[in-house]
Amino acid sequence: MDLTHRPRRLRRDRVRGLVSETNLEPADLIAPVFVDATTDERVPIESMPGHERVPIGDAVDRVEEVLETGVEAVMLFGIPKSKDPEGRRAWAEDGVIQDALRRITAETDAYVITDVCLCEYTDHGHCGPLEEELRREGGVVENGPVCEPTLTVDNDATLEALEKIVVSHARAGADMVAPSGMIDGMVDVIRDALDRDGFEHVPIMSYAAKYESAFYGPFRDAADGAPSFGNRRHYQMDPANSREALREVRLDAEQGADVLMVKPALPYLDIVSAVRQEFDHPVAAYNVSGEYAMLHAAAEKGWLDLEEVALESLLSIKRAGADLILTYFAEDVAGRLSADRRR
Ligand code: PBG
Repeated sequence: MDLTHRPRRLRRDRVRGLVSETNLEPADLIAPVFVDATTDERVPIESMPGHERVPIGDAVDRVEEVLETGVEAVMLFGIPKSKDPEGRRAWAEDGVIQDALRRITAETDAYVITDVCLCEYTDHGHCGPLEEELRREGGVVENGPVCEPTLTVDNDATLEALEKIVVSHARAGADMVAPSGMIDGMVDVIRDALDRDGFEHVPIMSYAAKYESAFYGPFRDAADGAPSFGNRRHYQMDPANSREALREVRLDAEQGADVLMVKPALPYLDIVSAVRQEFDHPVAAYNVSGEYAMLHAAAEKGWLDLEEVALESLLSIKRAGADLILTYFAEDVAGRLSADRRR
């Protein structure tokens, strides 16, 4: 029996920390914040316990609550006061995000990132204005037109809207912009638009490999951004594909993305790991609403220890290769990490 190698030697209490390979810190985390122009009071988000949509007047307080836990960055999502087919409130100077940004950047030190997408702003809930496309779907059509007009997101018209959105965000004080629509060419036009307007210093965190995922369910309630018809599989990625993810990420890197994001996180750790190996950019992972909701639901039943599984989830995402993690657990986990350190 050869017991020269006893890995358990390094698992004793006082040495475990010395040999640990992955370190999770509050500074790695970004907390999503929902600002809602349709309400005067905070509205709890039922499927995301502990999270609320806050009125614009509470945006600063909400961000200060985040900062108190040790988390230094927030990602802002907006619910506009009205919606239309083009999503025009997304770039309005007095829009919900623009207004919240001016207040937050004037009164706090938070690093403020904005989600750049149209799905919360269009009345149909898709990530850009629609166009009709001739498509042959659903098999053979006998004696009829082979191609039926189908509504889809108009890629190039959406690019024009994204330019207007990022410039309006940068003017209102955004530190970083994060386009999330999986629109072809989005990073390229956004970089140009920012540079033209004097915002060369504003980085882009691209939702580079964003999958068409059922794990976004609770978020769509939170941000009121569910598509009113169809789904997003004509622009978000097919969960079956991983090589395609690298192709998508490469395009964004070539177009000038500063940070590359994979979303969701836990069901896609293979992608996080592959992106980490292939690129030397900072890699972000979005631990999405469904990943949060399912742990809460199981904990509510007494089946899981919420604090432990939350921490283990985030540690796993880091271990897979993420440098930054967007997560609804940010405040809770940061609070726990700071408490552990004081012990
Ligand atoms: C908007 C956007 C979505 C999420 C972040 N930005 C929703 C979607 O694509 O349907 C999901 C976040 C989450 O589930 O936590 N495009």
